Amino acid sequence: MRAENFQPLVRAIDVRKRFGDTEVLCGVNLVVNRGEVLCIIGPSGSGKSTFLRCINQLEIYQGGKIFVNDELIGYKEAGGRLLPIGNRQVVLQRRRIGMVFQQFNLFWHMTVMENIIEAPVRVLGQSVAKASENAMRLLERVGLAAKADAYPMKLSGGQQQRAAIARALAMNPELMLFDEPTSALDPETTGEVLSVISELASTGMTMIIVTHEMGFARQVANRVVLMEEGQIRHEAPPDQFFGNQAPARLKAFLSTIH
Ligand SMILES: Nc1ncnc2c1ncn2[C@@H]1O[C@H](COP(=O)(O)OP(=O)(O)O)[C@@H](O)[C@H]1O
Ligand SMILES: [Mg+2]
Repeated sequence: MRAENFQPLVRAIDVRKRFGDTEVLCGVNLVVNRGEVLCIIGPSGSGKSTFLRCINQLEIYQGGKIFVNDELIGYKEAGGRLLPIGNRQVVLQRRRIGMVFQQFNLFWHMTVMENIIEAPVRVLGQSVAKASENAMRLLERVGLAAKADAYPMKLSGGQQQRAAIARALAMNPELMLFDEPTSALDPETTGEVLSVISELASTGMTMIIVTHEMGFARQVANRVVLMEEGQIRHEAPPDQFFGNQAPARLKAFLSTIH
């Protein structure tokens, strides 16, 4: 069992997010410990992506607090009030968090190698030589060393997603967020992406994974949570979460995806 020392890396406290008049995060409370793998499942529209995007500041939350590594995300406290941080601060906070999207989001005009070294060179100021060496190691790890000079268009969906994972890892993040990383993939390539994520989990990387792959969640997660209507409604270790004692509402949801 990992995460034995239960040091929180992510703490979400009563997080609220509105789009216009619609509140889509309605008080999310969640702690993710260092080295822990947390899987989030829940119906479409329940706020899973929005929650991950708030952690990574692709969206701005309007209520509550998110801490990563004890640092308040997106705001600074001044005189008892919360003020939005500036862009430079956002970049500093965001670079410690890797995110992998459903739609890969690679740069189409760059080779796989160029995609991976872009942020380390531009944001971290690494030399191209050092960034490339590191990128090659990561490509070997995700089984894509032979594709370093290929353009994303020439790759299968599974290969593109593995390249996107390598790109996120190149920033040496302390937290990885995965938003339905295999939903856009053919069944044949889903497995290769899930095994790369499992391998990463076994190294002790802290991860939050939104997924509908229940077998995978059961195998890789330390804890699984159900998100519904902008709140965490149930949380348990995988054996309990998927077991016979699960609440009826959860069982009903699970039966829609099995
Ligand atoms: N940029 C946006 N503008 C307006 N509404 C949005 C936006 N992004 C998401 N939403 C709405 O927020 C709710 C939660 O969406 P999302 O976080 O994508 O859910 P999930 O990932 O669980 O499917 C949905 O009702 C969605 O339509
Ligand atoms: Mg989503």
